[in-house]
Amino acid sequence: MKKLVFAILIGGLFMANVNAKTLVAYFSATGNTKRLSQTVASALGADIVEIEPKVPYTSSDLDWTDKKSRSTVECNDPSARSEIKNKIAVSPYDTVIIAFPIWWYNAPKIIYTFVESVDLSGKKVVPICTSGGSGLGRTPADLQKVGSKTADWRKGTRFSSSASASEVKKYFDEVLK
Ligand SMILES: Cc1cc2nc3c(=O)[nH]c(=O)nc-3n(C[C@H](O)[C@H](O)[C@H](O)COP(=O)(O)O)c2cc1C
Repeated sequence: MKKLVFAILIGGLFMANVNAKTLVAYFSATGNTKRLSQTVASALGADIVEIEPKVPYTSSDLDWTDKKSRSTVECNDPSARSEIKNKIAVSPYDTVIIAFPIWWYNAPKIIYTFVESVDLSGKKVVPICTSGGSGLGRTPADLQKVGSKTADWRKGTRFSSSASASEVKKYFDEVLK
């Protein structure tokens, strides 16, 4: 009996460790990327954390028809770095999936803040996005330029916010080999 309890405990610890190796860190202003990220995390048995803006985006901040809206101004300024409210620890993970909406054909500047503020050295990093149709474009190359030099960037992709667990699992099984 003691042996059985011991085996279950060790097995549980081992499983927790395996499951804790991948982190899905996401930013989502209107919920689409959050939905995708939840699907990815549950399909991969990964941990999930939201990259929370210090100042939340209002709907007028997100108005892309307004040249003076917060999102448009940030997107047009290469040095803009929107602040993150929460501390995110990436050290326990060997894979970090970074999920975000496409804004003006690129990642929102808060994603640049994230990539610059955490140590991704030696970790597998996969950028994924939701969008109205645009792909990742030059985003992965731009993020690599500002991030840890020895991060192991893998090919990212765009998913629909309603992507299925089996679709995302198939993608990550391939790209994380
Ligand atoms: C400021 C802004 C700019 C956007 N630019 C693009 C774009 O260039 N291409 C595109 O396909 N969708 C664009 N979109 C649409 C979003 O990428 C899409 O709605 C995304 O799924 C939103 O994710 P979220 O709900 O997680 O914030 C833009 C949305 C906003 C608010």
